[in-house]
Amino acid sequence: MAEAIARGIESADPDVKIKLYNAAHADKNDIISEVFKSKAILVGSPTINGGILHSIAGLLEMMRGLKFRNKKAAAFGSYGWSGESVRQIHDALVKGGFSVVTEGIRTNWVPDEDALAACETFGSEFVDTIK
Ligand SMILES: Cc1cc2nc3c(=O)[nH]c(=O)nc-3n(C[C@H](O)[C@H](O)[C@H](O)COP(=O)(O)O)c2cc1C
Repeated sequence: MAEAIARGIESADPDVKIKLYNAAHADKNDIISEVFKSKAILVGSPTINGGILHSIAGLLEMMRGLKFRNKKAAAFGSYGWSGESVRQIHDALVKGGFSVVTEGIRTNWVPDEDALAACETFGSEFVDTIK
């Protein structure tokens, strides 16, 4: 999903510099320092046991404490049956001080071609909201 959203952003505005991180593998402090430098962020997770990945939860908790200002954000995530992750990320971003500009996007299980196309559209629309 992240890669498809990034493609959508790039196609809408090739001048936007996009950085993609896998929170499970990247250094948390590297991600947070990029958040400081960014105008907008997108945060995603599958729904796992009615919640979100612990790596994403940890990052969101760091962001809550840092209380960002004047930054836009949105959530995305995949799910199997209940799909709470996008709402939970959305609420955590609000607590972190972000202006959350859309309801976010969810895809069911592993995204198929149509779902990936929807992610690309989501990315291009996101660019418009951060201008
Ligand atoms: C351990 C585990 C728990 C899960 N719990 C939920 C859940 O509570 N609600 C839900 O909608 N999907 C749940 N799922 C389904 C995942 O959201 C689904 O596998 C995911 O969207 C696919 O992403 P992935 O390819 O990264 O696993 C669960 C999956 C796993 C493996």
